[in-house]
Amino acid sequence: MQKKFYRTEAYLPAEDTFFMADYIEKESGLSALDVGSGSGYLTKLLGQTFSFVVGTDIDFDVLKNQSYKTKNLICCNGSDALQSEFDLVVCNLPYLATDEILDIATDGGAEGFEVPKKILDSTLKNIKTGGKFLFMTSSLSNYQKLIDYAQELGLSAKILARKKLFFEELILIEAIK
Ligand SMILES: C[S@@+](CC[C@H](N)C(=O)[O-])C[C@H]1O[C@@H](n2cnc3c(N)ncnc32)[C@H](O)[C@@H]1O
Repeated sequence: MQKKFYRTEAYLPAEDTFFMADYIEKESGLSALDVGSGSGYLTKLLGQTFSFVVGTDIDFDVLKNQSYKTKNLICCNGSDALQSEFDLVVCNLPYLATDEILDIATDGGAEGFEVPKKILDSTLKNIKTGGKFLFMTSSLSNYQKLIDYAQELGLSAKILARKKLFFEELILIEAIK
């Protein structure tokens, strides 16, 4: 039997969420996608400056129990279920380098690259040409490997901002298609 380590509550908005929010607030356009919506905090925020917003999460229970309720929620890996292209895609990735995926909200697998790679692979088709993908990673993962991989996928990726916390440095990446 497959092990199920999923939480039943959403990842509560935290330092990384608020750090991303500071940059998301500056964005506007027609369509935006929040991959790994969790509590819905960022998805709801996107709704203030984008006309059409979709949120996805791999955890159905989390989507059912969101504290920041939004429309257009889809349960899937990354954005596997979506064909449409968006002006902006955001993802506060599960980026922690871990040997196993015990908590899907935070654990990124080997080098903190394994799960982010899956999400990038899934999401690439949903970024409009000229559109932007903002994603969060950290000094607790091999973030350079993730940036290099984004470049390999044809995205023009760079570090947009860093924020030092007590135990890690948050690293926000901007990737343009
Ligand atoms: C760090 S939490 C971020 C939650 C919220 N966006 C925020 O910023 O507070 C990561 C979220 O991604 C979801 N997630 C993990 N792996 C995923 C995958 N492969 N596809 C879609 N969502 C995933 C988790 O369930 C979790 O809700």
